[in-house]
Amino acid sequence: MARRRGRAWEHVRVSWSASADSARPFYGSFGWAYDLVVAAPEGPWVAAACADLQSVGIGPGARLLDAGCGTGRYAAALGARGYSVDLVDASAELLSQAADRLPRANARVADLRELELGRHYDAIVCRGVLNDMISDVERQAVLNSFASHLRSGGAIVLDVRDRDVSERRYGDNYRIEKLVDTPRGTLAFTADGKFEHGLIYTHEEHELRTGTEPPRLTSYDFTMRPWTREELDEHLWLAGFRVQTITELNDRGSNDRLLCLTILDRTPVPQ
Ligand SMILES: C[S@@+](CC[C@H](N)C(=O)[O-])C[C@H]1O[C@@H](n2cnc3c(N)ncnc32)[C@H](O)[C@@H]1O
Repeated sequence: MARRRGRAWEHVRVSWSASADSARPFYGSFGWAYDLVVAAPEGPWVAAACADLQSVGIGPGARLLDAGCGTGRYAAALGARGYSVDLVDASAELLSQAADRLPRANARVADLRELELGRHYDAIVCRGVLNDMISDVERQAVLNSFASHLRSGGAIVLDVRDRDVSERRYGDNYRIEKLVDTPRGTLAFTADGKFEHGLIYTHEEHELRTGTEPPRLTSYDFTMRPWTREELDEHLWLAGFRVQTITELNDRGSNDRLLCLTILDRTPVPQ
């Protein structure tokens, strides 16, 4: 069990693939540098999510779950707007940082496919997570989990990568390079992505140069699966949701995201 400053994480069963997620250095051994590598202006996403929530009557004071909260920057921005936000993530390293940002939040290390938090929320927000769900079964499991953690009429605001735009963005090899100064040395981060047959294959490297020790290189390969609007509609419908809006969102300098607002208005279709 992971512990941090006297806090004992309550581990909810973490499946093999969520364990693989937290084995990704970006979320695990280099999780301490996540916010330095991803210099995210969370403002535009949070503003769009809040406008969506308020359009269905979910305003400040409502109880939210940030599903796949990472280091909690989005959760903290939602908290600053008056929402009461709980945290869940498969990565204990990232969740620790989120819990430091929101010390009063309930925080759990858990697999979104198998959530059993024993609470119901007014809304769930989920940013930058669902592309990690590769199979239809995993996608459905997450959305069913969300349905079972919402009150009737509760909402989800989620984003996914749009399949067609991703194909254009990653059709030729796509490379991200960052060099950041960190308290532990200079960190060189690279990610190479390639879109093929509906999937984005990515190779990621972290190299830490301390000046005193030989550079430490860690590499990792993983796959993402962007979504079509039809896939979103279908999986959400099966989980008991009615889609309200799907809008194009230009987030973090890329225009490949779809932001979806959806309401729980039925019991899920038995599967
Ligand atoms: C790209 S990060 C986004 C983090 C945060 N939402 C943000 O936007 O800064 C994806 C997050 O999803 C989490 N994640 C991926 N698969 C998960 C799963 N099956 N269960 C729980 N968390 C998961 C990862 O640990 C990681 O923190």
